[in-house]
Amino acid sequence: MIFRIGAITICTAILGVAAADAGETATPEALASEARGIVGRFADRLKGELVGAMKAGGPVAAIGVCNTAAPAIASEASAGGWIVRRTSLKLRNSATAPDAWETETLARFEAAKAGGADPAKLERAEILESDGARRFRYMKAIPTAAEPCLACHGTNLAEPVKAKLAELYPDDKATGYSAGDIRGAFTLSKPLP
Ligand code: HEC
Repeated sequence: MIFRIGAITICTAILGVAAADAGETATPEALASEARGIVGRFADRLKGELVGAMKAGGPVAAIGVCNTAAPAIASEASAGGWIVRRTSLKLRNSATAPDAWETETLARFEAAKAGGADPAKLERAEILESDGARRFRYMKAIPTAAEPCLACHGTNLAEPVKAKLAELYPDDKATGYSAGDIRGAFTLSKPLP
């Protein structure tokens, strides 16, 4: 089976599936493959909407699209028991704050990048159990590209972009990035039987 994630090649750099038994229906590897497929489709759609909106109306108009389209696309992608989100250590949308496992994973991604790993290849999959309930969890790092990301996540943002961001996200922490930085991650989770 082939799963496409935009132009990103997936590798199992830090894929550590923690438990061997994922229930009768799916192995951890099959779940990880499924997660990669969902991330690929989600990323393609987001990028399509974003680039289209930038072309049509410039970055200020595109901010409005991100503001409404990104959460909408995320909830559409959340089918078949999967919950699909984006998160970051430096948030723009504070509603997408990472939990403890996500924070730890993002810190691991930063450490791997500092050690020379390619951020486009960082992912983690694990089966977590709490209160007797098991969940498959998957994260994939989102690298920052010069285009189009820095128009809204870089330094020296255009004044109208700054003003619109300040209006929508008064507590915005997601600026000051450079190309190649880890902007955040896709984060998926699915309950297991
Ligand atoms: C037109 C402005 C704009 C551009 C260009 C842009 N973003 Fe964003 N980004 C936003 C907005 C607005 C949000 C908050 C969306 C929301 O409310 O959920 C956001 C949120 C995010 C988040 C979710 C975490 C958070 O901080 O809320 C990630 C990850 C992200 N962007 C990555 C990227 C990447 C990678 C690129 C380049 C491919 C990019 N963005 C380009 C405006 C932009």
